[in-house]
Amino acid sequence: MCSKVVLFSVLACFAAVATTASCSGVVVCYYGAWSIWRSSSGHYGVSDLPVDLCTHIVYSFIAPTAEGGIYFTDAEDTVNGKSNKMDDFVALKQNNSDLKLMVAMGGWTPASTNFTIVVNNDTLRATLINTMVSFVEEHDLDGVDLDWEYPAQRGGADSDKEQFVVLVKELKAALGSKLLTAAVAVTQSNIDLSYNVTELNKYLDYFHLMNYDYHGSWETVTGVVAPLYAQLTDAAGTNLNVNHSVYTWIENGASPSKLVLGLAAYGKTFTLTSLDNTSTGAPASGAGVAGPFVGEAGSYSYAEICSDQAANATAWSITEVTGNYVYANKDTFWVGYDNANTIYAKAQYAKEMGLAGIMYWAADLDDFNGLCGSTYPLIKAGISGYNA
Ligand SMILES: *[C@@H]1O[C@H](CO)[C@@H](O)[C@H](O)[C@H]1NC(C)=O
Ligand SMILES: *[C@@H]1O[C@H](CO)[C@@H](O)[C@H](O)[C@H]1NC(C)=O
Ligand SMILES: *[C@@H]1O[C@H](CO)[C@@H](O)[C@H](O)[C@H]1NC(C)=O
Ligand SMILES: *[C@@H]1O[C@H](CO)[C@@H](O)[C@H](O)[C@H]1NC(C)=O
Repeated sequence: MCSKVVLFSVLACFAAVATTASCSGVVVCYYGAWSIWRSSSGHYGVSDLPVDLCTHIVYSFIAPTAEGGIYFTDAEDTVNGKSNKMDDFVALKQNNSDLKLMVAMGGWTPASTNFTIVVNNDTLRATLINTMVSFVEEHDLDGVDLDWEYPAQRGGADSDKEQFVVLVKELKAALGSKLLTAAVAVTQSNIDLSYNVTELNKYLDYFHLMNYDYHGSWETVTGVVAPLYAQLTDAAGTNLNVNHSVYTWIENGASPSKLVLGLAAYGKTFTLTSLDNTSTGAPASGAGVAGPFVGEAGSYSYAEICSDQAANATAWSITEVTGNYVYANKDTFWVGYDNANTIYAKAQYAKEMGLAGIMYWAADLDDFNGLCGSTYPLIKAGISGYNA
C-alpha cells in the first residue's frame, strides 16, 4: 500500500509505516453546529456524526471576543431530539476512544475584527490562550483548530501576519500534547497577505487546506467549486484548482506530511443565462435557488444534489470530467461539484502527494441519511481513494 512513492510522499509513508504499519491518513470532518436548525432531511445533530469514518471531528465554531474570551457562534441547543451541545459532542468519544475531537475558532462570519484586536496586544493574547486552554481542558478536547479568515484581511491589520505566528507558537506551547491545526486559504495572494508558511510549519500539527470555493455565483460565468486540475474551459495560466494550491503551499515551505486536502461535500450553484451553453464558463445571471435541506442560494449540499438527481433523473444533464470534477444542469439551474468518483480521485491524489490525509467541509452536507444509497458516500469514497 505504501509502494506508490511519488514526489514528496517518501517521508510521510515511511514515517507512518514505522509507527503504525499502515499508510492510512487522517480523515478530518468539520461539523457546523448550525445544522441543528435545518429542516426536513437537513436536520443534523452530533448523534449523526460518522464517528466510525472520521479520525478527527472539528466542532464549528467558537469565536474570540475583544477581551480575549470566546463565545459560541451558534447557541447550544436541542431541537426535535437532536443536540449540538459541546457536552454531547464530547460524549461521542465513549464509543470510539481513538476519535480526536477538536474545536474550531473563527469561521467566515466573525472575520478579523476581534482576532486582530487580541493578537496584537500581548495581554489580550495571553488571556485568549488561557481561555482556550481552559476550554479544551474543561471539555477534554483533543485540540484546537484556528479558522481565522483571514489574518491581515477582512478588517485585519498588516501586523496580523506576524502576530498570527506568535499566537500559533504560544498557543501550541500552552496546549502541550494537544493538537493545534489551522484552516487556511489556498492561493499565493492569500499566503502573501496572511501566512508566514515556514514559521507556521514549525508549530502547527496540520494545515487544513480550504481547497474549495474556487468558483461561485460572485462570478459572471459558471465554474465548479473545486476542480482538481484546470477546468477544460479555463484560459491558460488560470491557477484556480486544487493541484495548483497544493504545489503553492509546498513551494512556500509547508511539509507535505502536514497538509490535509480539503474536500467540499457541496456544490456551488448558478442560474444559466440560456441553455445554449451549459458547460463551465457559461454565462450566468447569478446564484442558483436555495435547496430544500440547507436553504442557501448559491450552494447545494451533496445530499441536495444527489437526491434531486435521483428524484428527477430525466430532467438532469450530468457531465463528469474524469478524475477532475462534475457539473450538471436541470433547465437553467446549474451546479459544479464532486461526486464519489472525483472525491476518490482527489483522495488518491492526496496520498500520492504524500499529504497527511483528507478533510471535509462538512459532515452535515454529505448524504448522511443515505437518501441516494449508502450513508456518507463522499466520506467513504475519500477513505477508499486515500487507501487505494
Ligand atoms: C467581538 O467581541 C465583542 C465582545 O468583546 C462581541 O460583542 C462581538 O460580537 C465580537 N465580534 C465579532 C465579530 O465576533
Ligand atoms: C454509543 O453507541 C450506542 C449503541 O450504538 C448508542 O446507543 C449510544 O447513544 C452511543 N453513545 C454516544 C454518546 O454516542
Ligand atoms: C492591551 O489590552 C489591555 C487590556 O484591554 C489594555 O489595558 C492595554 O491598554 C492594551 N495595550 C495596548 C498597547 O493597546
Ligand atoms: C517569516 O518569518 C521569519 C522569521 O521572522 C522571517 O525571517 C521571514 O522573512 C518571514 N517570511 C515571510 C515570507 O514572511
